Amino acid sequence: MKSSAITSAMALAFVLGSASLASAQSAAPADPTDAGKAVFKRANCVGCHKWHGNGGGGYGGDALSLRQTHLTRDQIVETVTCGRPGTGMPYFARGSYDTAKCYDMTRQDVGERIPPEGGTFLRPNDIEAVADYVLAHIKGKGEPNYDECTTFFGNTSRVCDIYKANATKPASEQQK
Ligand code: HEC
Repeated sequence: MKSSAITSAMALAFVLGSASLASAQSAAPADPTDAGKAVFKRANCVGCHKWHGNGGGGYGGDALSLRQTHLTRDQIVETVTCGRPGTGMPYFARGSYDTAKCYDMTRQDVGERIPPEGGTFLRPNDIEAVADYVLAHIKGKGEPNYDECTTFFGNTSRVCDIYKANATKPASEQQK
């Protein structure tokens, strides 16, 4: 009797264990690129490239579309680390063009074409994280839509209403 009580207790534990495993699996898994999304906000990539990455008239000039970028991960990492000489794309690594050359140039080599300094310095792992975020959620994604917008801002954001209202219009007529 005692042993069967133990057996059924074990069976119950097994059932409970697999039930919690199942619920853990059905819950949305944490997005591994959330850290990169946080960097995308914190370093104000959003200020120039916008939440959707399509860019358009930020304070650094017309930022290229990250949705349409052809850059590889390494190239995105390099662009964020070093900025882009002669454009408004800032460099985000402390010491770029000083303690570390960029595009094989020192500050003296790059001269007046030195890009602006990012408002926040990022560590290498932050830069990789933001590159992974761009690759997973922005590059190659086509036109931004309501679902993506609410995922970015959270479900309650009214910023996204324009995508809802415009959902049936062709992309060219949508507000940006
Ligand atoms: C001050 C405005 C500004 C900020 C802030 C900014 N960018 Fe840019 N970015 C630009 C501009 C302008 C360009 C276009 C450069 C050019 O004309 O080649 C650009 C280009 C890029 C490119 C190259 C795209 C391509 O296809 O060549 C990448 C990648 C990029 N930005 C990523 C980022 C990330 C990630 C952040 C945040 C860490 C960021 N940018 C912050 C203005 C900005």
